[in-house]
Amino acid sequence: MLGFDYGQFAAVYRRFESGATGRPGRSRRRSAGGVMPDSGDIQNDSATDRTVVLVGLMGAGKSCIGRRLAARLGLPFRDADAEIERAAGCSIEDIFELHGEAAFREGENRVICRLLAGNPHVLATGGGAFMNPETRAAIAARAVSVWLRADLDLMLKRTGRRNNRPLLKRGDPRKILSDLMAQRYPVYAAADLVVDSVDGPPEITVERVLAALRARAPSSKAATSAEGAEA
Ligand code: S3P
Repeated sequence: MLGFDYGQFAAVYRRFESGATGRPGRSRRRSAGGVMPDSGDIQNDSATDRTVVLVGLMGAGKSCIGRRLAARLGLPFRDADAEIERAAGCSIEDIFELHGEAAFREGENRVICRLLAGNPHVLATGGGAFMNPETRAAIAARAVSVWLRADLDLMLKRTGRRNNRPLLKRGDPRKILSDLMAQRYPVYAAADLVVDSVDGPPEITVERVLAALRARAPSSKAATSAEGAEA
Protein backbone atom coordinates (compact mmCIF):
# COMPACT_ATOMS: atom_id res chain seq x y z
CA MET A 1 0.00 0.00 0.00
CA LEU A 2 1.50 3.34 -1.02
CA GLY A 3 -0.74 5.91 0.60
CA PHE A 4 -2.69 6.07 3.81
CA ASP A 5 -5.05 8.38 5.60
CA TYR A 6 -2.95 10.67 7.79
CA GLY A 7 -6.11 12.22 9.22
CA GLN A 8 -7.40 8.90 10.43
CA PHE A 9 -4.04 8.02 11.90
CA ALA A 10 -3.35 11.43 13.48
CA ALA A 11 -4.51 10.42 16.95
CA VAL A 12 -2.26 7.39 16.83
CA TYR A 13 0.65 9.59 15.75
CA ARG A 14 0.12 11.78 18.80
CA ARG A 15 0.32 8.69 20.98
CA PHE A 16 3.52 7.60 19.22
CA GLU A 17 5.04 10.88 20.34
CA SER A 18 3.53 11.09 23.82
CA GLY A 19 3.81 7.44 24.77
CA ALA A 20 0.11 7.25 25.64
CA THR A 21 -1.58 3.89 25.25
CA GLY A 22 -4.01 3.24 22.42
CA ARG A 23 -7.53 2.11 23.18
CA PRO A 24 -7.74 -1.66 23.01
CA GLY A 25 -10.54 -3.21 21.02
CA ARG A 26 -10.20 -1.00 17.95
CA SER A 27 -8.52 -3.72 16.01
CA ARG A 28 -9.45 -7.25 15.30
CA ARG A 29 -6.39 -8.61 17.05
CA ARG A 30 -4.93 -7.24 20.21
CA SER A 31 -1.24 -6.74 20.48
CA ALA A 32 0.76 -9.44 22.16
CA GLY A 33 3.51 -6.90 22.71
CA GLY A 34 4.07 -4.86 25.80
CA VAL A 35 6.57 -2.69 27.53
CA MET A 36 9.23 -4.49 29.40
CA PRO A 37 9.46 -3.54 33.04
CA ASP A 38 12.42 -1.39 33.87
CA SER A 39 15.30 -3.47 35.10
CA GLY A 40 16.44 -0.65 37.35
CA ASP A 41 17.77 2.82 37.07
CA ILE A 42 21.19 2.45 38.64
CA GLN A 43 23.93 1.76 36.14
CA ASN A 44 26.16 -1.01 37.42
CA ASP A 45 28.41 -1.37 34.41
CA SER A 46 30.41 1.53 33.05
CA ALA A 47 30.28 0.23 29.47
CA THR A 48 28.13 3.17 28.35
CA ASP A 49 26.50 6.33 29.56
CA ARG A 50 24.32 6.65 26.45
CA THR A 51 21.28 4.82 25.23
CA VAL A 52 22.30 1.64 23.43
CA VAL A 53 20.31 1.06 20.25
CA LEU A 54 20.30 -2.42 18.74
CA VAL A 55 19.79 -2.59 15.01
CA GLY A 56 19.73 -5.55 12.63
CA LEU A 57 17.46 -7.75 10.61
CA MET A 58 14.48 -9.71 11.86
CA GLY A 59 15.69 -12.68 13.85
CA ALA A 60 19.07 -11.17 14.69
CA GLY A 61 18.13 -11.32 18.38
CA LYS A 62 17.65 -7.61 19.14
CA SER A 63 14.88 -8.06 21.73
CA CYS A 64 16.34 -11.14 23.37
CA ILE A 65 19.85 -9.70 23.60
CA GLY A 66 18.56 -6.23 24.42
CA ARG A 67 16.59 -7.42 27.45
CA ARG A 68 19.61 -9.24 28.85
CA LEU A 69 22.01 -6.46 27.99
CA ALA A 70 19.79 -3.96 29.80
CA ALA A 71 19.85 -6.12 32.93
CA ARG A 72 23.65 -6.28 32.77
CA LEU A 73 23.93 -2.53 32.32
CA GLY A 74 21.31 -1.81 34.98
CA LEU A 75 19.33 0.17 32.41
CA PRO A 76 15.66 0.04 31.43
CA PHE A 77 14.82 -1.93 28.30
CA ARG A 78 12.51 -0.63 25.58
CA ASP A 79 11.29 -2.43 22.50
CA ALA A 80 10.32 -0.02 19.72
CA ASP A 81 7.92 -2.51 18.11
CA ALA A 82 6.13 -3.07 21.43
CA GLU A 83 5.92 0.69 22.02
CA ILE A 84 4.41 1.17 18.56
CA GLU A 85 1.84 -1.53 19.25
CA ARG A 86 1.02 -0.02 22.62
CA ALA A 87 0.47 3.46 21.15
CA ALA A 88 -1.53 2.13 18.21
CA GLY A 89 -3.56 -0.24 20.38
CA CYS A 90 -3.06 -3.01 17.85
CA SER A 91 -0.39 -5.34 16.52
CA ILE A 92 2.19 -4.44 13.87
CA GLU A 93 0.50 -6.87 11.55
CA ASP A 94 -2.74 -4.93 11.98
CA ILE A 95 -1.00 -1.58 11.41
CA PHE A 96 0.44 -2.91 8.14
CA GLU A 97 -2.90 -4.34 7.12
CA LEU A 98 -5.19 -1.48 8.17
CA HIS A 99 -2.99 1.57 7.61
CA GLY A 100 -0.15 0.38 5.37
CA GLU A 101 3.60 0.10 5.73
CA ALA A 102 4.16 3.87 5.26
CA ALA A 103 2.06 4.60 8.37
CA PHE A 104 4.06 2.07 10.32
CA ARG A 105 7.39 3.57 9.19
CA GLU A 106 6.27 7.07 10.11
CA GLY A 107 5.11 5.90 13.53
CA GLU A 108 8.32 3.95 14.05
CA ASN A 109 10.37 7.11 13.52
CA ARG A 110 8.22 9.10 15.95
CA VAL A 111 8.37 6.45 18.64
CA ILE A 112 12.14 6.06 18.38
CA CYS A 113 12.75 9.83 18.48
CA ARG A 114 10.58 10.08 21.59
CA LEU A 115 12.42 7.24 23.32
CA LEU A 116 15.81 8.69 22.41
CA ALA A 117 14.86 11.98 24.03
CA GLY A 118 14.43 10.17 27.36
CA ASN A 119 16.90 8.77 29.86
CA PRO A 120 19.56 6.22 28.84
CA HIS A 121 18.17 2.77 28.17
CA VAL A 122 18.67 -0.19 25.87
CA LEU A 123 16.45 0.05 22.81
CA ALA A 124 15.66 -2.81 20.44
CA THR A 125 14.50 -1.42 17.10
CA GLY A 126 12.57 -3.13 14.31
CA GLY A 127 14.66 -4.29 11.38
CA GLY A 128 13.62 -1.43 9.10
CA ALA A 129 14.10 1.42 11.58
CA PHE A 130 17.76 2.15 10.84
CA MET A 131 16.97 2.46 7.12
CA ASN A 132 15.20 5.75 7.76
CA PRO A 133 17.84 8.54 7.47
CA GLU A 134 16.02 10.69 10.03
CA THR A 135 15.93 7.86 12.55
CA ARG A 136 19.57 7.08 11.84
CA ALA A 137 20.58 10.70 12.46
CA ALA A 138 18.63 10.79 15.75
CA ILE A 139 20.33 7.58 16.87
CA ALA A 140 23.78 8.94 15.93
CA ALA A 141 23.12 12.13 17.88
CA ARG A 142 21.87 10.57 21.09
CA ALA A 143 22.92 6.95 21.34
CA VAL A 144 25.49 4.33 20.58
CA SER A 145 24.26 1.95 17.90
CA VAL A 146 25.11 -1.72 17.76
CA TRP A 147 24.41 -3.77 14.65
CA LEU A 148 23.62 -7.33 15.67
CA ARG A 149 24.71 -9.21 12.58
CA ALA A 150 23.49 -12.74 12.06
CA ASP A 151 23.70 -15.19 9.21
CA LEU A 152 20.75 -16.05 7.03
CA ASP A 153 20.12 -19.56 8.38
CA LEU A 154 20.04 -18.34 11.95
CA MET A 155 17.59 -15.54 11.14
CA LEU A 156 15.41 -17.95 9.18
CA LYS A 157 15.38 -20.38 12.09
CA ARG A 158 14.47 -17.69 14.61
CA THR A 159 11.85 -15.91 12.51
CA GLY A 160 10.28 -19.27 11.66
CA ARG A 161 9.22 -19.68 15.29
CA ARG A 162 6.55 -16.99 15.00
CA ASN A 163 4.38 -16.03 12.09
CA ASN A 164 3.91 -12.37 13.01
CA ARG A 165 6.16 -10.46 10.61
CA PRO A 166 4.23 -8.95 7.70
CA LEU A 167 7.26 -8.59 5.44
CA LEU A 168 8.01 -12.31 5.63
CA LYS A 169 4.49 -13.18 4.51
CA ARG A 170 5.04 -11.59 1.13
CA GLY A 171 6.79 -14.61 -0.37
CA ASP A 172 9.58 -17.05 0.36
CA PRO A 173 11.13 -15.97 3.69
CA ARG A 174 14.63 -17.10 2.66
CA LYS A 175 14.54 -15.00 -0.49
CA ILE A 176 13.01 -12.03 1.36
CA LEU A 177 15.61 -12.11 4.13
CA SER A 178 18.42 -12.57 1.67
CA ASP A 179 17.21 -9.58 -0.42
CA LEU A 180 16.90 -7.51 2.76
CA MET A 181 20.46 -8.47 3.70
CA ALA A 182 21.71 -7.15 0.37
CA GLN A 183 19.68 -3.96 0.72
CA ARG A 184 20.17 -3.24 4.42
CA TYR A 185 23.58 -4.57 5.45
CA PRO A 186 25.47 -1.69 3.79
CA VAL A 187 23.32 0.73 5.81
CA TYR A 188 23.52 -1.22 9.07
CA ALA A 189 27.30 -1.00 8.62
CA ALA A 190 27.03 2.67 9.58
CA ALA A 191 26.27 1.60 13.17
CA ASP A 192 28.91 2.52 15.77
CA LEU A 193 29.60 -1.12 16.61
CA VAL A 194 29.12 -4.43 14.86
CA VAL A 195 28.65 -7.62 16.87
CA ASP A 196 27.98 -11.06 15.47
CA SER A 197 24.87 -12.59 16.97
CA VAL A 198 25.54 -16.28 17.44
CA ASP A 199 23.37 -19.33 17.79
CA GLY A 200 23.36 -20.77 21.31
CA PRO A 201 23.08 -19.16 24.73
CA PRO A 202 22.23 -15.44 24.39
CA GLU A 203 24.81 -14.64 27.10
CA ILE A 204 27.58 -15.25 24.56
CA THR A 205 26.29 -12.46 22.33
CA VAL A 206 25.55 -10.24 25.35
CA GLU A 207 29.18 -10.59 26.46
CA ARG A 208 30.32 -9.64 22.98
CA VAL A 209 28.18 -6.51 23.01
CA LEU A 210 29.47 -5.55 26.46
CA ALA A 211 33.07 -6.05 25.32
CA ALA A 212 32.47 -3.92 22.23
CA LEU A 213 30.88 -1.17 24.33
CA ARG A 214 33.75 -1.21 26.82
CA ALA A 215 36.33 -1.14 24.04
CA ARG A 216 34.61 1.90 22.58
CA ALA A 217 34.06 3.74 25.86
CA PRO A 218 37.52 5.40 26.28
CA SER A 219 37.58 6.87 22.79
CA SER A 220 34.00 8.12 23.02
CA LYS A 221 34.82 9.79 26.35
CA ALA A 222 38.00 11.28 24.85
CA ALA A 223 35.94 12.55 21.91
CA THR A 224 33.43 14.08 24.30
CA SER A 225 36.13 15.94 26.27
CA ALA A 226 37.79 17.09 23.06
CA GLU A 227 34.44 18.51 21.92
CA GLY A 228 34.09 20.20 25.32
CA ALA A 229 37.58 21.73 25.03
CA GLU A 230 36.75 23.17 21.63
CA ALA A 231 33.52 24.76 22.86
C1 S3P B 1 10.47 -5.12 10.20
C2 S3P B 1 10.91 -5.78 11.31
C3 S3P B 1 10.06 -6.08 12.46
C4 S3P B 1 8.90 -5.07 12.55
C5 S3P B 1 8.18 -4.98 11.25
C6 S3P B 1 9.08 -4.59 10.09
C7 S3P B 1 11.42 -4.85 9.09
O1 S3P B 1 10.79 -6.03 13.67
O2 S3P B 1 9.40 -3.81 12.92
O3 S3P B 1 7.58 -6.21 11.02
O4 S3P B 1 11.16 -3.98 8.26
O5 S3P B 1 12.49 -5.51 9.06
P1 S3P B 1 11.90 -7.13 14.10
O6 S3P B 1 13.16 -6.80 13.37
O7 S3P B 1 12.03 -6.94 15.57
O8 S3P B 1 11.36 -8.46 13.74
